[in-house]
Amino acid sequence: MLHEKVSKLLNEQINKEMFSAYLYLDIANYFANKGLTGFQNWYNVQAREEMDHALFFVAYLQNNEFEVVLEKIEKPTIDYMNFKEPLQEALKHERFVTDSINQIFKQATEVSDYRTQQFLQWFIKEQGEEEKNATELIMKYDWAKENLFLLDKELLTRAYTAPSLTLD
Ligand code: FEO
Repeated sequence: MLHEKVSKLLNEQINKEMFSAYLYLDIANYFANKGLTGFQNWYNVQAREEMDHALFFVAYLQNNEFEVVLEKIEKPTIDYMNFKEPLQEALKHERFVTDSINQIFKQATEVSDYRTQQFLQWFIKEQGEEEKNATELIMKYDWAKENLFLLDKELLTRAYTAPSLTLD
């Protein structure tokens, strides 16, 4: 059975991952409206990954006899002034999520919850990759902004792949 403080944070993380999906879907829609279908594809794939993350937290909690409570998902309300801003917002958001995962890990450590620590290891690694991808995309944008069409074409090739994590 999970410690109350840990399960509360894990349950809250579901909402954060769902909001991540919403945020990326919103960014995908923004680029769709601008005719940049490669960027749209990139963030649509990102949104699907975030849904996967949310479902992992649900499954983990359910596997540990916790009754999940779903809360309202906040509306992404950012008005982007240029193509770079959503990319920066994505990086900022990933850093926020990294911090959130770290906080859960810290809490799990404080109550000697080794099982949750092990579960979170995958997310800790994943967040490293997420931040790296978001940072690289900003760098690529800075290089390519004179010819965004080429970068857009590259981003169109991103395909969704199921995450490597499996839960019994
Ligand atoms: Fe689920 Fe991008 O963190």
